[in-house]
Formats: sequence, structure tokens, C-alpha cells
Amino acid sequence: MKERAERAIADCRRIALMTEEPGRTTRRFLTEPTHAVHALLRERMEALGMKVSVDSAGNLRGLWRPKGASAERLNQNRLILGSHIDTVPDAGAFDGVLGVMLAIEWVGIARELRLPLAIEVIAFSEEEGMRYGVPFLGSRAVTGTFDAAMLKWRDANGVTMGTAMRAFGLNPAKIKDAAIEDDVIGFVELHIEQGPVLEAEGIPVAVVEGITGQTRLNLRFTGQANHAGTTPMDLRRDALAAAAEWITTVEKQIRKAASSTDPGIVATVGRIVIEPNAGNVIAGSAELSFEIRYSSSATRHRWTDKLIADAEAIAKRRGIGFEWNEKLDQRTVRMDRRLSTRLKSAVKACGFPVRTIPSGAGHDAMVMAARVPTAMLFLRSPRGISHHPTESVLEEDVEASLNIGREFLMRLAEEVG
Ligand code: GLV
Ligand code: MN
Ligand code: MN
Repeated sequence: MKERAERAIADCRRIALMTEEPGRTTRRFLTEPTHAVHALLRERMEALGMKVSVDSAGNLRGLWRPKGASAERLNQNRLILGSHIDTVPDAGAFDGVLGVMLAIEWVGIARELRLPLAIEVIAFSEEEGMRYGVPFLGSRAVTGTFDAAMLKWRDANGVTMGTAMRAFGLNPAKIKDAAIEDDVIGFVELHIEQGPVLEAEGIPVAVVEGITGQTRLNLRFTGQANHAGTTPMDLRRDALAAAAEWITTVEKQIRKAASSTDPGIVATVGRIVIEPNAGNVIAGSAELSFEIRYSSSATRHRWTDKLIADAEAIAKRRGIGFEWNEKLDQRTVRMDRRLSTRLKSAVKACGFPVRTIPSGAGHDAMVMAARVPTAMLFLRSPRGISHHPTESVLEEDVEASLNIGREFLMRLAEEVG
């Protein structure tokens, strides 16, 4: 397994060099470097004898059907493995990509063991929501929940999603063809933890219990751009000052809620674009991203409504325009009990402690879970760092996940074979 682990890590590092921005890893949905990632994945998959294709949503899909299987087995239901290959700006090398490389290595293990198990590996085209403000585009297409109205949405350069797809060589009119049918046993995603818990406890892996729900919004404060030297303070309609006041009240209220009524709740404004963004001009507009994550949908919705009302009040008091739209309302999902139990048995068989853990990060698994039995395995994240270039993974943990894969696939093949 050592060789497999080394290869998976080296491949992640190679893929991190396939980027929109020299010197740092940024690979948004269907941008040019995605072609290079596909080429590498295709090479790896074809070397194993997998049949490779790209679906209408840009997901690269490799199908492994065991050789020598009976006709009946050739038509058998398949297990899906995978994760995403898009990234946040200035990303690390392992978020998403490691799950794809490990999925391919799991196929290699199944092949070596001649397991009578069909496996499809999916490298999802989009999970982060960076280009169009909405995440899970790849897994939505696979689960048949892709809303075609999104094809008209524009990225920061004004390119519609439909145009981006065509430029990549896809046919958005065929998006429905990406959807799976009922011939799937389940979906398993391997992913780095992206948090500090496993490292603190000295444990290499954990089985995910559930994934926290989230809301994402886009908000815009519209004031009046004007001269910074001549406009008196009481006559300004400063969009940036309004945004700043709102961001501060969000942080204050959610911090308080997290330490009292709603432990674990998190809210973030991670992006702000102001116009004209000049030192001697009062900001005329401020566009913000907002997201809030919490286990209870009712509480998440209540907070979203409250914070929007606060933004409206701030804008009104300052004589500023305010508008918002919702990009995502994703409920908390539980992972499948049976599939997770199989994963736990595999962890135990390898001699590791069986730790379960909730996920605060979103994953393709939360979309897949609504369609097929789904389970996830987290690998420890050194220093708990992710969404950052120093994100890493330990080779020994990658090796552990491969041994767990071996046990898991053997058990599954026995049950379905
Ligand atoms: C995905 O990385 C997320 O935002 O949780
Ligand atoms: Mn991520
Ligand atoms: Mn991810």
C-alpha cells in the first residue's frame, strides 16, 4: 500500500500545479486547467482498464467492471467512489482531489484482488461554489437535481454557465443525461477532515456521521460613490461602511449564539467586492457573500431571516439600497447507517479506533446522500489546516485509508457478489 499512498499524494501535488493562476492553486468550475486534470485522471483510469467518459456537467467518470465476470455480474449494480476536482482560490493540494486519487487506488485494489464488484469513480467538476456562487454542480447533475435555470447565471467575467460548459466542449442541453439510475449500491467519498479533531486525538481516520446544513446568500448595499474630500460625513451614503456595520453585527450575534443557545453555529462573510474601490472615493456599492452553517435547519433559517432584517435596517438608516438573493439552502444530512457500519467494520479490522465525526464542511456526499446510500471517511488533517496552500495529509494515514478500502471492498463484494 505504501507505493499506492506515495502515488496518490504525488498525483495530488502534480494536480495542484494545474491552475488558473501561476504560483498558486486556483481551479474553478470548468476552467482551462481542468482539461489537464482530466488528462491525468484518464491516464490513471485507463491504465487500470476503466472505461472513461466526461458527462454533460463536466464530471470525469471511469467505470471499472471486473474481467471474467459472468454476464449477470457484468450488469451488476455498481459502487460509486469519488470527490471533486475544483478548488477554492489559493487552495491546498488535497481538498477533493485526494478523494479522487484514493478512489482510483481503491479500484486498483479491487482489480488486484479480482473482486466481483463494479465500481464507478467520479471526479466531480464542481463542489466549492466559487465560479457561480452555488456549490455541488457536478453532484447535482449526477443526482438529477441540477436546475437548468442556473445555466443563465453569470460568473465574475459575465460568462454564463451555459457558455462555460459549451467552451469546455459540453452540451448543457444534455445535462439530464448525467443523472444516475437505480443501479447503484451506494456512494463513498474519502476526504481530508479539514479540521483539528483527529490530530488532537491522535487518530488517523474517522467515519462521518452527517454533514452540516448551510445557507449561502449574495447581498448588495448600493450607496452613492462620491468625492472623499468634499462630501461631509453626515451627507454620505457609504456602501462599504454599511457593509462593515453589518459584518460586525453578524459576527457579534453569531459568536454569542455559538457560546450560548446554538453551540457549533458558524457564519462567514468571506468575499466583498466594492466599487469603485479607490482610496479617495466613497464606495458606491458593496457586494458580499454570506454563509451560515448549523445542524438545525429551523435555527439556520431563523438566523438568516434575522440577519437579513438587520441588513435592511442598517441600509434604511443610512439611506442606502439593499438587495439579496439566496444561492443555497442545503439541509443537514445523515450518512447511511448500513454503509457507514460497513466502513466502521473495515476501520476496526485494520486495528484503528472507530471514531465517528460530524462534518462542518460541505461535500458532494451531502447531495449524493439524497439519492443513494452514502458514507464518508475522513483522513486526519495535519494542524487542522485546509482551504490554504499548507493543507496536507500524512502518508501513513493515506496508507491506512487504502487498507480500510481493501477491507471494505472485500466485505462489500462478498455481500453483493
Ligand atoms: C466546501 O469546502 C465547503 O465550503 O464546505
Ligand atoms: Mn473545499
Ligand atoms: Mn472538498
